[in-house]
Amino acid sequence: MDRIAITGGARLNGSIPISGAKNSAIKLMAASLLTDEPLRLTNMPRLADTRFLGKLLMRLGVSVTESDGPDGQQTILHAPEITSGFAPYDLVRQMRASFNVLGPLVARSGQAKVSLPGGCTIGARPVDLHLQALEALGAKIDLHEGYVYAQAPRGLKGAEITFPFVSVGATEHAMLAAVLADGVTVIHNAACEPELVDLQECLNAMGAKVEGAGTPTVTITGVPRLKGATHAVIPDRIEMGTYAVAAAMAGGEVRLTNARPGLIDALLEKLKEAGAGVEETADGCIIRRNGSRLNAVDIETAPFPGFATDLQAQFMALMTTANGESRIRETIFENRFMHAPELMRLGADISVSGGEARVRGVEQLEGAEVMATDLRASVSLVIAGLVARGETTVSRIYHLDRGFERLEEKLGACGAQVRRIVGDGEPEL
Ligand code: EPZ
Repeated sequence: MDRIAITGGARLNGSIPISGAKNSAIKLMAASLLTDEPLRLTNMPRLADTRFLGKLLMRLGVSVTESDGPDGQQTILHAPEITSGFAPYDLVRQMRASFNVLGPLVARSGQAKVSLPGGCTIGARPVDLHLQALEALGAKIDLHEGYVYAQAPRGLKGAEITFPFVSVGATEHAMLAAVLADGVTVIHNAACEPELVDLQECLNAMGAKVEGAGTPTVTITGVPRLKGATHAVIPDRIEMGTYAVAAAMAGGEVRLTNARPGLIDALLEKLKEAGAGVEETADGCIIRRNGSRLNAVDIETAPFPGFATDLQAQFMALMTTANGESRIRETIFENRFMHAPELMRLGADISVSGGEARVRGVEQLEGAEVMATDLRASVSLVIAGLVARGETTVSRIYHLDRGFERLEEKLGACGAQVRRIVGDGEPEL
């Protein structure tokens, strides 16, 4: 398996273009199941996760064509008919968000059999809210042997859906299912993440009638059919935040482009509080840090517009060399501190108790061999490696490849010493 080696100590200077958002792209791809006309997605990231979903969609009857179009990387998805409503375990387990094909399949063809995704390393991550939403829309749901069987032979019906707590995936799933339902659906306590707004814009370009995404109440007036459309994927706010933290960690001056201001305000506020220079620009931001050490600051993860859980591991890496003690509270997932013991292999001083980690900043990290445990954890190790003395080698970087496009190239262009060591094909133990 491939590994990433980082030689610490180089400051970062330059510009990094931000790719399209993975967590939006994979929901937009699922929307292609809702129409017999082509959906053209531009600003598409090329990632392991988009490939996984493409593979599943092809099995369901969607042709998936990746190319370089007039406006950059694009994917054209076309499902003239649904040839199968079956999403098997071996494809869904590779990427949990594949489960979100269930709603569009039932909405378009009245039935589906989709594997339950199972848990993952950051938590149990049940799908009960997804199933409650589909049941509210009139689908008959049965669970057998790890599969969800959903049926709505006479179509879905608009309904009131009230989520007991905020779920990004369940809100998206309910939107994807309700656009073709008969009547009006109102989703209360909806997630407000920017990816929901992106999904609304794409669905509306396809002829849907969705309003309110980005607020806690989303209203969907069902339409009998959707058409093809072209839609540009929103910039990846987590990738943007990750490189902002990397620049603050390594020092220097990095301009993040092709992004959007306002997507990571909670992080930028914390970076300023820690002592980094932050300047918002029309298409992103500039992060600066001179030689002085950052101050420790506390964070608590929360749904948007709060501090994103997907930036928690990166911020923890940043705090490992800050001056003082930082308290990091994780409130979204129950097991999202697996990067802490790996950061400690680099010399970080961290103690974890329940949902809180205390990070006491040290003067200097030391390079070591470390292992990635999930996508965001893996990039936190790369960030720590940027300042660790000597060489840090990160293994199991297939996690990294799920969500960061051309990471070595983007960091390398700013002067980081980061290289990929191509593996010998042997699995890692
Ligand atoms: C999305 O996951 C993202 N994934 C995650 O990013 C992100 O961390 C998360 O939202 C929160 O922002 C994608 O978009 C593909 P949730 P999702 O439903 O939709 C519980 C990454 O690294 N819950 O908002 O799965 C759940 O267990 C990934 O890119 C239920 O209990 O998150 C969690 O504790 C990791 N029942 C909380 O809600 C349900 O039916 C929030 O999860 C659904 C969720």
